[in-house]
Amino acid sequence: MENILVVGGAGYIGSHAIRSLKAAGYNAVVYDNLSKGHGSAAKGFKFIKGDLGDKKKLLKVFAEQKISAVMHFAALAEVGQSVKEPALYYKNNTAKVLSLLDAMVEAGVKYFVFSSTAAVFGEPIKKYIDEAHPKRPINPYGKTKLMVENILQDYALAYGLKSAVLRYFNAAGADDTGDIGEAHTPETHLIPLILQAALGKREDIKIFGSNYKTKDGTCVRDYIHVNDLASAHLLALKYIQKHNTCADFNLGSSKGFSVKEMIDCARKITGRKIKTQTVARRAGDPAVLVANSKKAAKALGWTPKYNLDKIIATAWNWEKHRKY
Ligand code: UFG
Repeated sequence: MENILVVGGAGYIGSHAIRSLKAAGYNAVVYDNLSKGHGSAAKGFKFIKGDLGDKKKLLKVFAEQKISAVMHFAALAEVGQSVKEPALYYKNNTAKVLSLLDAMVEAGVKYFVFSSTAAVFGEPIKKYIDEAHPKRPINPYGKTKLMVENILQDYALAYGLKSAVLRYFNAAGADDTGDIGEAHTPETHLIPLILQAALGKREDIKIFGSNYKTKDGTCVRDYIHVNDLASAHLLALKYIQKHNTCADFNLGSSKGFSVKEMIDCARKITGRKIKTQTVARRAGDPAVLVANSKKAAKALGWTPKYNLDKIIATAWNWEKHRKY
């Protein structure tokens, strides 16, 4: 059985990935400092509490656990916060990743799956964003991720480290079991906030701007289920191992939904009233972000299985009975 170190395995996407790894016959070893993650999200898995920047500890883990590949999910991911506190982002999302990569090189661990983001592209210049789209991030968060993408190219050439760069669009939804799901503090993401308004935990959902050049004036995003992201990680890992190569993939559903459409869909799924209030635009929000994921479909055979109704239904199931 192959041992995969899952850095950030107690976080939102990582906790879904470890279950997919287990179901596929891998042994997922969770490495998390629990600064954002939840211990209970990794229940039933081998868990090592540690920091991404702790190279000494990582070297020990690589040797003791006989790790053959690393999936890296541990990152700060709030665009707004990254503008206010860039130092935190460059340290956590870029500088500390060097410790992890250097430990991998030293230990001879050759395969790395990296969580990147649509934020590396900045303002889109075309409707469907493919891997070749210019990468001009407009906020520190996107810049920290692009820096790692560039570092990985150089590490591949110099040290033979093979990586899969996976650029998520809007990760959403929760596992069908309802055992794990999205739990950020503070929560800033659209779907949990809409559902908390449906539950009456919030007065209303604020719509950030209604004068964008889109179908109904609100921002359009490409929402992709976390379990579909998790399955892409497995396929990407197998791909880079089989071909002993590096690869990058944009992961989305290739469908865009506006904020208003999301609220309407949530009203339909929950059967609840959801009050809205239109407020000013949020700084740094592009009008439209939709993926072209043909490369992942072709090379990996990856096709998302959850449509928007299922995404919201699983998120609703989680939000109603949240365990953490
Ligand atoms: N939105 C609202 N009201 C809210 C919250 C969000 O109208 O209360 C809108 C936003 O303006 C945006 C859409 O809903 O148009 C989605 O917002 P999210 O905050 O849920 O997600 P983002 O698209 O801003 O962020 C996602 C990831 C980030 C990543 C980014 C890349 O969550 O980690 O995509 O652009 F950096």
